[in-house]
Amino acid sequence: MSIVVRGLCINTDRPYNSPAVKKEYHIAIAGATGAVGAELLRVLERRNFPVARIRALASRKSVGKKVSFRNQSVPVEELSANSFDKIDIAFFSAGGDRSRKFVPIAQKAGAIVIDNSSVFRMNPDVPLVIPEINGQDVKQHRGVIANPNCTTAVALMAIYPLHRAFGVRRVFAASYQAVSGSGARAIAELKEQVQAAAADRQSSPQVYPHPIAFNVLPHVDVFLEDGYTKEEMKMQNEGRKIMHLPEFRASVTCVRVPVYRAHSVALSAEFEKPVSVDQAREVLAKAPGLELVDEPHNNRYPMPLDVAGKDNCQVGRVRLDCAFENGLAFWVSGDQLLKGAALNAVQIAELL
Ligand SMILES: NC(=O)c1ccc[n+]([C@@H]2O[C@H](COP(=O)([O-])OP(=O)(O)OC[C@H]3O[C@@H](n4cnc5c(N)ncnc54)[C@H](OP(=O)(O)O)[C@@H]3O)[C@@H](O)[C@H]2O)c1
Repeated sequence: MSIVVRGLCINTDRPYNSPAVKKEYHIAIAGATGAVGAELLRVLERRNFPVARIRALASRKSVGKKVSFRNQSVPVEELSANSFDKIDIAFFSAGGDRSRKFVPIAQKAGAIVIDNSSVFRMNPDVPLVIPEINGQDVKQHRGVIANPNCTTAVALMAIYPLHRAFGVRRVFAASYQAVSGSGARAIAELKEQVQAAAADRQSSPQVYPHPIAFNVLPHVDVFLEDGYTKEEMKMQNEGRKIMHLPEFRASVTCVRVPVYRAHSVALSAEFEKPVSVDQAREVLAKAPGLELVDEPHNNRYPMPLDVAGKDNCQVGRVRLDCAFENGLAFWVSGDQLLKGAALNAVQIAELL
C-alpha cells in the first residue's frame, strides 16, 4: 500500500520497483555482520532497492568473511575513514561509538547517513523518522537521519494513529523485548543457556547480568539517576520528537524476555477526547504498517512468533482502560529488527 503523508508518498508494503527510477545507489553498511546489518541486506534485496554496489563494513576481526547480497558474495572490509568514498547512502548499525566517530566522516565524504544508534536521535539538526508518522521530516536532513529506538518505533505504530484520532496525553507501558534487540551475541547467549539447561549443565551469562533463559529481566540499557533506564526514557523523548508533541508523557518499564525476535509492548494510553473500542479498532485497522489482530475469544492477538520476519506490526487486546478517564489499553508486537531497525531505515532511504 502507498500512503501519502503530508505530501510524501510512502510505500508501506511494496518493494521499490518503479520502472521510472533509473538511478542506482552506492551503499555502505557499517555493521554488515551484525543482527541489524544482516537484516538490512535482506530488506534492500527484498524491496528491490536500486543498488549499484554494496560495501560491507565491520570490525577488523570480520575481514575475510563474506556477506551475501543478490546471490553474490560481498567481502567484508574493515570500517575506516576511507570507507565512504563515492558512497551515496551509508547505513550505520555498528554501535554508538562507531557512529560517533565515523558518521561525521561519512557525511563529509558526501554520503547521506541513516543511523541506527541512539547517538544523534535527539540532535535538533537530525530528523528522527518513522516514515508512516513523520516522513516529511526527512526533507530537513543535513546529511544524517536517525532511526528511532526499536521499542519506541513498535509502540508508536499504534499510538500515533490513535493520537491523530483522539489526541494522546500520556501512556503507561511495559515492554517485552527480544534478545535480538541486544545483537548477535545475545541471540547466541539465549541459545546456549537453553541448551545448557536441557543438558543440566551450568552456563554463565556474558551479555546480560543474569541468566535470560527461563527468566525475565526488568533491566534494558543503563540505569539513570531517577531510577528509569535510558531505554525507558526513549519512548517519551523520541515520541515527542517523532509525533511533534512536546507535552507527550510516557512512563515505561522495559523488560528483556527469553524471546529470540520481535518486541511486544503493553500500553495504557490517555486521550484528550472520549474514545470507544469500536472507534479505536476502526482507526487501528486502517493505520499504515499495522494490522489489527483482535479476536480474543478465538485466542487471536499479536505475538512475537507471529510477527517475527514480518514488516507490519500488529495490535490487539484493545479495551477501555479501567483506570483512565478517556483511556485505552492495548498490546502491540512488532519485529524490532525490521520496523525497529532495518525496514524503517530502508523506508527512509526510499523517501530520499
Ligand atoms: N538489534 C536491534 O534490534 C536494534 C534495533 C535498533 C537499533 N539497533 C542498533 O543497531 C546497532 C547494531 O546492533 P546489532 O543488534 O546489529 O548488534 P550486533 O549484532 O552486535 O552487530 C554489531 C555490528 O557492529 C560491528 N562492529 C562492532 N565493533 C566494531 C568496530 N570496532 N568497528 C567496526 N564495526 C564494528 C560488528 O562487526 P563484527 O561482527 O566484526 O564484530 C557487527 O557488524 C546498535 O547501535 C544498536 O543499538 C539495534
